[in-house]
Order: sequence, then structure tokens, then C-alpha cells
Amino acid sequence: MIPVCRLDELPAGESVRLDTTPPIAVFNADGALYAIDDTCSHQDASLAAGWLEGCLVECPLHAASFDLRTGQPTCLPARRPVRTHRVSVVDGMVHVHVTGAPSVPAEAGAATGEGSAA
Ligand code: FES
Repeated sequence: MIPVCRLDELPAGESVRLDTTPPIAVFNADGALYAIDDTCSHQDASLAAGWLEGCLVECPLHAASFDLRTGQPTCLPARRPVRTHRVSVVDGMVHVHVTGAPSVPAEAGAATGEGSAA
């Protein structure tokens, strides 16, 4: 489990990039937290630098869009999904669980207890 930041440092509509290997992007999509691999599956753009709209992030380079819930691209030119990671909030701190399993959004308001927000 990787600590990301305090929940209040990641307001709705914002993202943060973790310099892990590979890098991971964490998003607050209207109060739900999601984590995906940061590197677009089309080329090497950072999805954390993309545009967030609902549960979709649009790549800043060629405008492929990814569903944060599944990691699946929703339009070309990306064809391959990106990995999703589970997010939890423990005592106001956002954590990413790097598993590669499909992610479950954490509600931004539920900030106490291991697993209670995931
Ligand atoms: S690098 Fe993301 S769509 Fe091309």
C-alpha cells in the first residue's frame, strides 16, 4: 500500500502522479477516488496531465479516453487498457494498493478505517 497524499490535498477534479515503476495516477472524480497506470497505452503521455470528465480521463496527447473504473479505452487511438489499482482512505490519508486488479472507487467522504472506503 503506497501513501499518496492527504485527502484534502486531492480535491474533486484533480489528480496526482506517483513516481512509482510504472508511474500511477490517482484521480478524484467528483468525490470518488481512482488509480490507474499513468502512462497512456497508446504512447507515453501522462494521464495525470489529462482532462477529467466524470469517470473518464482524456489523454493530453492524442485524446484517447480511458474509463477510470475499468482502465478500458473508450475511443481510439488507444486500444489497450491501462491497469487499475484499488484506492483506500485511512485516517484522512489516500493510499493506493498496487495489485493490477480492477479498482473500486473510494468515496472521498469516508476517511476512516482500513478498507471502509474501498
Ligand atoms: S499518447 Fe495517449 S492517445 Fe496517444
